[in-house]
Amino acid sequence: MDGNGRWAQQRGKQRSAGHQAGVKATRGIVEHCARLRINALTVYAFSSENWQRPEKEVSFLMELFVKAIRSELNKLHENNIRIQFIGELSRFSGGLLDEINAATEKTAHNTGMFLNIAVNYGGRAELVNATRAIAAKVESGELDAASITEETVTSNTWLAACPEPDLFIRTGGEQRLSNYLLWHLAYTELAFTDTLWPDFDGEELDKIIENFSSRQRRFGQTGEQVQSG
Ligand code: FPP
Repeated sequence: MDGNGRWAQQRGKQRSAGHQAGVKATRGIVEHCARLRINALTVYAFSSENWQRPEKEVSFLMELFVKAIRSELNKLHENNIRIQFIGELSRFSGGLLDEINAATEKTAHNTGMFLNIAVNYGGRAELVNATRAIAAKVESGELDAASITEETVTSNTWLAACPEPDLFIRTGGEQRLSNYLLWHLAYTELAFTDTLWPDFDGEELDKIIENFSSRQRRFGQTGEQVQSG
């Protein structure tokens, strides 16, 4: 969800106004994806590198997340959405952690769309975390090192409960992954748009999905194999 700051600057506003507009855009996209019966939507709200921003912006974002979760939770729950937070959550304190736990617990038994919110998330950190969990199982004798498979790694990541992502979309014009979902994106189709996040809407998402639908996903096979399979 890149481009909140530039969206605000273009309008002569503070960056915080861009983040507020970003929350509004997120709400629209979550509703749109739920209507489309998307299985899982994962949004990158705060990276492990974002702590380097000015303290004022970081604390504004934390407040904004608390408020957004609090005000949206009942509606998300009524719509059968399962909320999960992925990232190193222990870095957060008090208010935000309480909201995170409350939202996760309240919606844990829902059966509709997964809404995964990545906060203090880093793809490499996720893999380090999974490696530690696997190593602990090997150490305790629960797991044999030789029997570790890709599935073992996936099931120890923070997205163990979700299917692999079909489509990655980055707004705001940059064409890089920025340490996002590194393990999970192995066969994901990538889409980049110059649109700044606050301007990204269902109509543009539909266009990107339409383009995605026309792509042939070969997963290492030849085009002929895919067509005949
Ligand atoms: C990127 O814009 C966005 C962020 C750093 C995170 C903030 C995201 C939101 C407020 C969306 C709401 C999310 C939830 C889960 C409630 P940027 O500041 O990097 O923009 P720039 O590249 O133009 O400076």
